[in-house]
Amino acid sequence: MNITRREMIQIGAGASAGLMLGCTMPEEMDRGLITKEIPSTGESIPVIGLGGRNYRLGEGWAENTDGYRATLGTFYELGGRLIDTSPNYGDSETIMGNLLQELGIRDDLFLATKVDRQEKEEGLERMQGSLERMHTGHFELMQVHNLRGWETQIPTLREWKQEGKIKYLGITTSSDRQYEQMEQIILQETLDFIQVDYAADNRTAEERLLPLAQDLGVGVLVNLPFGRGRLFSRVGDRELPEWAAEFGCESWGQFFLKYVVSHPAVTAVIPGTTSERHAVDNIGAGKGLLPTSQIRSRMEEFIDALPLVERPSRS
Ligand SMILES: NC(=O)c1ccc[n+]([C@@H]2O[C@H](COP(=O)([O-])OP(=O)(O)OC[C@H]3O[C@@H](n4cnc5c(N)ncnc54)[C@H](OP(=O)(O)O)[C@@H]3O)[C@@H](O)[C@H]2O)c1
Repeated sequence: MNITRREMIQIGAGASAGLMLGCTMPEEMDRGLITKEIPSTGESIPVIGLGGRNYRLGEGWAENTDGYRATLGTFYELGGRLIDTSPNYGDSETIMGNLLQELGIRDDLFLATKVDRQEKEEGLERMQGSLERMHTGHFELMQVHNLRGWETQIPTLREWKQEGKIKYLGITTSSDRQYEQMEQIILQETLDFIQVDYAADNRTAEERLLPLAQDLGVGVLVNLPFGRGRLFSRVGDRELPEWAAEFGCESWGQFFLKYVVSHPAVTAVIPGTTSERHAVDNIGAGKGLLPTSQIRSRMEEFIDALPLVERPSRS
């Protein structure tokens, strides 16, 4: 198949790349990173974020902390702004909060965390704890984790939004068992974001949820873009197909991320990494060209033809 340059520069709806299309962006975001608009406000964010699920302490924590600091610092230096975490991820909020304070970069970030409690008071306490752990007075995005207690928590999030403690509100899942409920919720509530699992080999979300979110003007953050590493196991030591270079793809990580963010409903992706090298690789996926729908089909065919590997368990 011959891919023309014209086809390649048809990037997803609402997407822009500062250098490529000449739009204006805040100086710190002007690293040639592709951005997309949050539908509810038109605010632009870079399409590549960072997932904080594995920022944990344990044995060798001092060495880990140096690595975490380097990863977050490099992510920021390269123009990364969106970070997602949760009080549910061990010490992640504490570790990140301390490091972001130390690096002095919190004010430039789009910080997203979650509330994971059933009852109103517990939820309030949990969110207050998140503010303290992350040394901040507000979050850009607060999400109801895995829909837990959503009927109770969404009204609380609206109150927090009114009070300026959060800018955006949303709900998350990483299980297709919750998609139908998520659809019902976005039809009945006005939300800024959903967060959902979506990957080149896990495309159920695009059947109904992604188009619905797009129609309703709800932003989409994507979690598990690598299926917790499953996709790397699937491609194994295969070389990238030659045609991947035509949309500026230099690694498998970039192949998987460019696939996800080129879906027109997707606002941004939050690949989980504690590795500085991987953060650099991932940010690279947010530069240059994104695949067109025609190339996306080709990517799907390629991935579908690979042997299956055992799927890591979900949480
Ligand atoms: N229900 C929910 O709300 C929910 C559920 C799951 C996840 N999430 C969010 O989504 C984020 C992403 O999910 P995840 O971290 O579980 O899974 P993921 O992003 O699909 O995969 C993370 C794995 O990929 C590796 N990796 C990252 N970049 C790579 C690269 N360029 N090359 C090779 N390997 C790479 C990471 O290892 P290294 O650390 O060594 O790079 C890690 O093992 C989470 O951190 C969390 O913020 C939310």
